[in-house]
Amino acid sequence: MAKNVERVTDEQITRAAEMVLAARYPIALTGAGMSVESGIPPFRGPGGLWTKYGEPPMNGYQIFLADPKKGWEERIKRQDDELFAPLKGARPNPGHYAFAELERIGVLRFLITQNVDDLHRQAGHKALAEIHGNWKLIRCLQCGARFQSGEISLEVLPPPCPQCKGLLKADTVAFGEPIPPAVLRECAEHSARSDLVILGGTSATVYPAAGFAIEVKERGGRLIEVNLYESEITRICDLSLRGGAADVLPRLSQKIAGLRRARLS
Ligand code: APR
Repeated sequence: MAKNVERVTDEQITRAAEMVLAARYPIALTGAGMSVESGIPPFRGPGGLWTKYGEPPMNGYQIFLADPKKGWEERIKRQDDELFAPLKGARPNPGHYAFAELERIGVLRFLITQNVDDLHRQAGHKALAEIHGNWKLIRCLQCGARFQSGEISLEVLPPPCPQCKGLLKADTVAFGEPIPPAVLRECAEHSARSDLVILGGTSATVYPAAGFAIEVKERGGRLIEVNLYESEITRICDLSLRGGAADVLPRLSQKIAGLRRARLS
């Protein structure tokens, strides 16, 4: 937990829970802040990788396409650098489990994550879209097929797609790379139906992800933010729960489940 952050009050948690229960189609949009308490550094804000090293080039995808062999060689070399190493040992934290519980009891309808760390899946979340991909997967740029990293032999670089012989790349979406159309469509469908978004640990600086929450707000929906600090979207949120995801989300999930049980009994 960050220093001198006021603990989120029970009244705020109750207010947020009431808003979620009053919504027809609550969804979540999560970012790197969800996984900080799993040991994975964020990109922006205190301790952020981009804060430390500067934002990466905005044309990483074009650089890969210009020399895929080199791109693959760099990927193999970087397996233990500061971006990948924390992913290997990371486990879901109570924040991930809280969202999975809200899905299990039928409250949370869908979750869009910008995280590539697989932690929502590991926490048992089912109805989700990984809009920036998943670090454990390899994707074919021609036919769109996805493979577990271990399924792809690296004898030949770049490795050919086992299905169509097309060009394979990490599933994680590089800067400058279009979001795979099927993923984008799925996110758009769920956000179009949504009237409330719980934003968990995102600076809301990257599009199209942040745009889904803004569209819900513009259509008269509501936004609840769970973030240790102010973000780009704080000013249009109906409620900002200024605390750590691993602390606030379990409290919110328990309050929602309790109020819901009381109403159903
Ligand atoms: N609990 C909740 N929020 C937190 C916590 C925490 N313990 N720690 C940090 N945060 C917040 C920060 O205040 C910040 O607003 O999480 C947010 C992290 O923001 P970013 O690092 O920008 O991550 P994200 O919003 O996911 O970035 C979007 O940018 O670089 C690309 O592809 C990358 O998916 C990423 C995208």
